[in-house]
Amino acid sequence: MKKTLLTMIITSFSANSFAEVEFLHWWTSKGEIKALEALENQLQHHDIQLRHSAILGGGGDSAMTVLQARALAGNTPDVAQIEGPSIKAWDDVGIVHTINETALKHQWDENLHPLTISINKSANGYVALPITLHRLNWMWVNHRLLDQLELQVPTTWPEMFQAMEKAQQANLLPLAVGEQSWQIASLFESLVIASGGVDFYHKALVELKRDHIDSEQMRLALRQLRKIASFVEPLQPNQNWDTATQSLIDNKALFQLGGDWILGDLLASDVKVPQQIGCYPAPQSHSAFLYNMDSFIFMDAPDFSQQQAVEVANALADKTFQARFNQIKGSVPVRTDIDLSAFNPCQRQSAQDFIQASKNGLAIPSMSDSMAVNPIAQQAINSEIFNYYRNPNVTEEAVLRRIIAIAQST
Ligand code: BGC
Repeated sequence: MKKTLLTMIITSFSANSFAEVEFLHWWTSKGEIKALEALENQLQHHDIQLRHSAILGGGGDSAMTVLQARALAGNTPDVAQIEGPSIKAWDDVGIVHTINETALKHQWDENLHPLTISINKSANGYVALPITLHRLNWMWVNHRLLDQLELQVPTTWPEMFQAMEKAQQANLLPLAVGEQSWQIASLFESLVIASGGVDFYHKALVELKRDHIDSEQMRLALRQLRKIASFVEPLQPNQNWDTATQSLIDNKALFQLGGDWILGDLLASDVKVPQQIGCYPAPQSHSAFLYNMDSFIFMDAPDFSQQQAVEVANALADKTFQARFNQIKGSVPVRTDIDLSAFNPCQRQSAQDFIQASKNGLAIPSMSDSMAVNPIAQQAINSEIFNYYRNPNVTEEAVLRRIIAIAQST
């Protein structure tokens, strides 16, 4: 009798501990929360409850710091949102479950974009579940204000600056900006693509080559970033990207530059896209596709077995769910076999542009959003660029010198 009770306790404990899965992520905006609801429903459908550990701070810098601290303390969450090369770094540490069964069941080798495979698959097989493909070099335009100012959509930076000037004269906010280092650094990436082209961007900000950092193209991009800062006065300390998006929605700001999670927020606020707010490639970056991707890793912890990881991964790899999630999130699915006809036109354009850019070698990883360099170099470079943007006393030469020093020390 005693034995039976004990068995019952053990069984119900393990059932409960799996029935709830802790998920560490940085999805806290209106659109992100809506996408998370779809994720939660999908898991509930498989009798799995989600426990959120949401860490404020788009771009994930704070969430990644928390993940590292928790891993060091031996207290990992079950599932964590993650991006790019750190997937393989976590696999090297040896605390990530492989999910090859899921990959086989959902035929990832046959159906994922090759780029997605290379990011999520290590020598051990699939070590992460890919979920979104985001485009960062988007420009979001408030059409009502554009018409009011009798302007055309700018396609070059000189045109963009003229439009911003006109908006400023009309007492409108020329550009809605998320005032955080990763946001400003990703704005800078679009300027670097415009000033030097895609190959140049890759050499300067992905390979961190000294001669490309110390160059006229980088100086021009920095000067233009400073010019942007002068339009955004007074700077809004610590404003998040989604607060900036709200000023676009409220017809206060003319433009916002940034990733298509902005689309997720626009759709969650019932904004008609592209009628009310349109999506256009950032000036002078039309054929480039600056990307980041979200994936999930499943942590090898005593109360989260590989079999449990595979069960969660199977639920989230489901094709219908992957379509629904991306449709809400504003991103493009990582599977190539998803019908996009019900997606927003901006997402359909993004998907087409990605295929075209991939063919032409013009799809490039975002340094500022965790897809290119190691996290220490990334945070250091982001904060140098942010500091330059905020402090007019920092010279171009000084910031370039510091970026070179960071590149040499990594
Ligand atoms: C993530 C997106 C997220 C955005 C803003 C990016 O790093 O890839 O999924 O929506 O940050 O929070």
